[in-house]
Amino acid sequence: MARVKKAVFPVAGLGPRFLPATKAVPKELLPVVDKPVLQYAVEEARAAGVEDFIFVSSRGKTAMADHFDRHTELEETLEARGKTDLLEAVRDCAIPSGRAVFVRQPEPLGLGHAVWCAHAAIAPDEPFAVLLPDELLLSDPPCLAQMTQAHEATGGAVLATMEVPRELTNKYGILDPDGDEDERRLTPAKGMVEKPDPEVAPSTMSLIGRYILPGSIMSKLAQGRRGAGGEVQLTDAVDSLIGEMPVHGFRFIGERHDCGSMAGFVKANIACALKRDELREEITSFLNGKLC
Ligand code: G1P
Repeated sequence: MARVKKAVFPVAGLGPRFLPATKAVPKELLPVVDKPVLQYAVEEARAAGVEDFIFVSSRGKTAMADHFDRHTELEETLEARGKTDLLEAVRDCAIPSGRAVFVRQPEPLGLGHAVWCAHAAIAPDEPFAVLLPDELLLSDPPCLAQMTQAHEATGGAVLATMEVPRELTNKYGILDPDGDEDERRLTPAKGMVEKPDPEVAPSTMSLIGRYILPGSIMSKLAQGRRGAGGEVQLTDAVDSLIGEMPVHGFRFIGERHDCGSMAGFVKANIACALKRDELREEITSFLNGKLC
């Protein structure tokens, strides 16, 4: 089974929910504690063995390319001042030369279209990962590393899932399971639907923004078929793979924060701050004070 070496990050959205913060700053660069939300997804991909990073961006968002580039002047200054921790943090952001590719999605035609925009970088026989950076997933080992391990056994497509309350199925892609989960937390899929109403949702297993897909999905996305909301949906293209290859849901166990919503973003900041030794005590006592 070919290993997953490439990851696609759809980062073309305008982030209207976070205006005015996102007027000049891409929403993916808003910080969760001291790291941009996108960096968490890049680090998750890196921990899973990804070597090539393909960002599907849009106009006005070039700061993302700067963030993942070297900044030699800044590095020299930090070095001269003996700020070794900060120097390391700045160096760690950088993606090695030639390994970060930025392509554009010229129009917001949907997630499926955004992923298709990376087609020139993915060969038809090459598996690749898709990470939606709004979804901040915290676990050890990280979600994508668990998925790549499962994928080495199953091949085909593997999609991370989590249970949601039935009344929320219309916010997510929902898996239609074909039988029970196995000991690796994999469930075969016999279908999937984008944002179904609660009454007709085939299950409550929501897709949570981590996918391992075959390169051949690009030719399905190329058809540009419109689905829910009039957009080209990734969920529909994955659904059309069923019958041609194994398609599994992988139940994620860990913390999930929806950084695409204001409340989720604030919660992610609190959760990540509480994981930091130097912040835990102060933040805990602040929260206790507020809640009493
Ligand atoms: C996208 C996908 C959906 C998935 C969700 C996870 O929806 O289309 O299937 O469940 O991400 O965050 P969006 O939130 O972009 O509308």
